[in-house]
Amino acid sequence: MEQQHKISEYVKPWTIPKNFGSVGRAINTTSRPQLFSPITIKDMTMKNRIAVSPMCQYSCNDGFMNDWHLVHLGAFAKGGAGLIILEATATSPEGRISYGDSGLWKDEQMEPLKRVIDFCKIFGPRMGIQIAHAGRKASTEPPFLGHRKQGIPFDDPKGWKVVGPSEVAWDENSQVPHELSISEIKTVINDFKNTARRALQCGFDFLEIHGAHGYLISSFLSPCSNKRTDEYGGDFNGRIKLLLDIVREVRTVWPSSKPLSVRLSCVEWVKDGWQLNDTVRLAKILENMDVDILDCSSGGNSSNQHIVGGPLYQMPFAQEVKNNTNKLYTMGVGLVNKAHEAESCIAENKCDIVAVGRAFLRDPYWPIHVANDLDCDVDVPLQYAFIDKRMMAHLHGKDIFDLKKPGNH
Ligand SMILES: Cc1cc2nc3c(=O)[nH]c(=O)nc-3n(C[C@H](O)[C@H](O)[C@H](O)COP(=O)(O)O)c2cc1C
Repeated sequence: MEQQHKISEYVKPWTIPKNFGSVGRAINTTSRPQLFSPITIKDMTMKNRIAVSPMCQYSCNDGFMNDWHLVHLGAFAKGGAGLIILEATATSPEGRISYGDSGLWKDEQMEPLKRVIDFCKIFGPRMGIQIAHAGRKASTEPPFLGHRKQGIPFDDPKGWKVVGPSEVAWDENSQVPHELSISEIKTVINDFKNTARRALQCGFDFLEIHGAHGYLISSFLSPCSNKRTDEYGGDFNGRIKLLLDIVREVRTVWPSSKPLSVRLSCVEWVKDGWQLNDTVRLAKILENMDVDILDCSSGGNSSNQHIVGGPLYQMPFAQEVKNNTNKLYTMGVGLVNKAHEAESCIAENKCDIVAVGRAFLRDPYWPIHVANDLDCDVDVPLQYAFIDKRMMAHLHGKDIFDLKKPGNH
């Protein structure tokens, strides 16, 4: 039985030789698009600059990943992503957004993650995980069930009491969070550390701390949601303390040789909220704490936000951070859908890695198709060599291979 579940030795990627392109297309062999140039950050080398942005699937039981995640994430690996960042993974059961969220708060949850990593790595992506606590935005239904938008009340069997920096609800329909005590904050920090240790044991190459979108860390950063008067609130230094404590503790178990990323909401999209200059100020501190990458997102902490969206709308945040720091790599994200858009982000030095979300859900082979648009050669899984008769010819050691002839495959 175990043998049957083993991956065949034939399941492996195959690099298309330089002079092979998709049938009928010229191939650009002189200047390789910047998007498909490798990048090395600490001991992690990505084959290209394309990351799958973390995307919750709300499809776990008790935080355990399953076959859905293997197929979902495995498709991105086959599709040519350079880095796959697994969805927001809860550091404690209360830190889940919904009861279907992924978790890594106990050792038993490591096994299915290792299975995903082992399969995906065959195709060459680096594997990352985002670790998270949902704070006052926890205790919800999976959004695709959508019939309880305001979240599940804490006294419902499926819900729990949400926590936050202060007793400020996300909106009028949400639970008022329990204000974390100092000793409860220490537990949260410790949970991040223990989750990071497990992530290392699983074999992840990249770790991201979720400090964005109004979840726990993000809600501590913002003066709109953090009204504390102790060391974890008040001025800028007090509000960033939770994140810095988490970074420091995580770095004691996540080796300095491995890249550590922080995702931030670079702006909150409300007048009196967290602003881009706060992000730059924080980025300068983080780069001196052995954080390697700032993943530049925005919004999510206020129900009053007014987002001005559009293609590449968050890229200026990544660029601003890049221009004002010395060592930090930046990841840009948000409405990067087209090949030339993604290429421009790297070629014009707006960011070092492009994170792509929904485009991957629409098309898991997004990198291969983008490469084709940019006339660039990339890996495809061996099994899919059938899509290109010149690849098949190469495999069979012939110059010309006619797939229409019977018996040739
Ligand atoms: C289904 C879905 C789930 C998401 N889950 C997460 C998550 O777990 N963590 C996170 O930081 N962002 C999450 N996001 C935000 C994406 O990572 C990304 O930042 C956002 O979708 C914008 O990129 P896009 O325009 O390429 O989709 C999610 C987005 C989608 C569509």
